[in-house]
Amino acid sequence: MNALEFMRRGELVRIEKFAPDTMLLEYLRLTEKSKGTKEGCNEGDCGACTVVLGTPDNGRVRYQAVNACILLLSQIHGKELITVDDLARGGILHPVQQAMVDAHASQCGFCTPGFVMSLFSLAHENRKITRQDVVEQIAGNLCRCTGYRPIIDAGLAACDSADDHWHKAQAEMCTKLRAIQGDLFVGDAHSFFAAPSTSEALADLCATYPEATIVSGCTDVGLWINKQMRAQPKIIYTGAAQDFAQIVDHGDHLSIGAGATYEDAFEAFGKISPDLSGLLRRIGARQVRASGTIGGNIANGSPIGDMPPALIALGATLYLRHGKSERAMKLEDFFIAYGKQDRKPGELVWRIDVPKAKSNQIFNCAKITKRRDDDISAVMGAFLFTIENEKIVAARIAYGGMAGTPKRATKTEAALIGKTPQEAMHIVLDDFEPLSDMRASAEYRSTVANALLHKALMQAAGETDLQVHI
Ligand SMILES: Cc1cc2nc3c(=O)[nH]c(=O)nc-3n(C[C@H](O)[C@H](O)[C@H](O)COP(=O)(O)OP(=O)(O)OC[C@H]3O[C@@H](n4cnc5c(N)ncnc54)[C@H](O)[C@@H]3O)c2cc1C
Ligand code: FES
Ligand code: FES
Repeated sequence: MNALEFMRRGELVRIEKFAPDTMLLEYLRLTEKSKGTKEGCNEGDCGACTVVLGTPDNGRVRYQAVNACILLLSQIHGKELITVDDLARGGILHPVQQAMVDAHASQCGFCTPGFVMSLFSLAHENRKITRQDVVEQIAGNLCRCTGYRPIIDAGLAACDSADDHWHKAQAEMCTKLRAIQGDLFVGDAHSFFAAPSTSEALADLCATYPEATIVSGCTDVGLWINKQMRAQPKIIYTGAAQDFAQIVDHGDHLSIGAGATYEDAFEAFGKISPDLSGLLRRIGARQVRASGTIGGNIANGSPIGDMPPALIALGATLYLRHGKSERAMKLEDFFIAYGKQDRKPGELVWRIDVPKAKSNQIFNCAKITKRRDDDISAVMGAFLFTIENEKIVAARIAYGGMAGTPKRATKTEAALIGKTPQEAMHIVLDDFEPLSDMRASAEYRSTVANALLHKALMQAAGETDLQVHI
């Protein structure tokens, strides 16, 4: 297939020529001239640009809110695109819009289109929606003048009434979306957007064009394009290869395809530990979690990415793939130094195997940020203790935000062996020399990292009052 295709307002849109790094928001506002969708931060934080994408899913359409500012136009291939300009029909507001009016939930209105689209997607989740669901849904939408109570009220009222045009047309839309299939390659060898439809084809293409940018959710790459003005003339998108996002439960471990998004991984991670699914809930907001992938979080090598410390503590194995050849390594060995990972050009982060904690193991993890929702970690700590006869016989401890890479605290791990969790409480971390930056001072990081260790030991000791004094 050599043209981008997606469904818009009931019609198939086909685009044969476009710059590979065109963002969806840019296309909407400058080409389509649909200006209801707003540009605020242009980096995925404010939600003013929220639109909804529909994906076929078992005979229905799954609707998800995403940030159009950090999504490539071409990522909507094979999807239905819905924006705020589409909701009112025949001069009658959509129930979500009407609820916003009824609840007096808008003042200046700049943020309102984004809230409406976030709530629109929530209203199509086909489940009973609670106040907490609404709060979580709009955590990635900032409003600085109305105040959130009326918006939450509007959300609760609107989510009772999703029996709209989209709801009724789901089966038909699903059939139309399913008809858009096959490997996509638009452009030529000098400038292209490619979206292979299988993981095998994806691996072959990445090996053929090692200089191309691999894009998964684009939640990091989008910022290179928007904020650093780094042109991306050759893009290979992983998101069309459904088998690249598969999560398989093997009983004692999970195999997670690198293309699995945070939303996709939520349920499976919950089987390992409620702390792990709780951690996923605190990554970005729902728009970011619908796009961002586990593989992208590892591949970007960030010292403050949230997945690596948790998966390192659990003893995860990372699989990399270059063309037909695959290699495996301990996840911690992938991170060589700040900005340097053990990955050659054209090599894909392929899958991650994550062991489940055994009955004599206790896992927990915690993320420390300045605000609860939609914030990047200052420090992230993850702990796995193996306990026999009340003593710690093995420990895996990993931190983010304490060094130039996600890193194990090997000295501290060794110091814990042979002690009961209570006996180990006096141990002080001696593995890191953290830096001060805009997120936290070195002193704060050290203090908080110790507090997290002690909290984990208290949990292992079965203490219920987990107040830690830092
Ligand atoms: C508003 C906002 C909030 C965020 N909050 C958090 C947070 O709380 N915690 C956190 O950890 N991160 C956060 N992030 C960062 C980002 O969302 C995550 O790192 C995400 O997991 C990146 O995945 P992606 O699929 O979007 O990666 P992309 O942007 O597509 O790619 C990131 C990098 O990885 C490479 N890459 C992607 N997939 C592969 C692959 N399979 N193989 C090889 N290379 C690959 C790309 O070439 C690029 O270098 C946030 C980002 C935004 C914009
Ligand atoms: S413009 Fe702020 S999230 Fe897109
Ligand atoms: S209504 Fe003004 S910022 Fe939300």
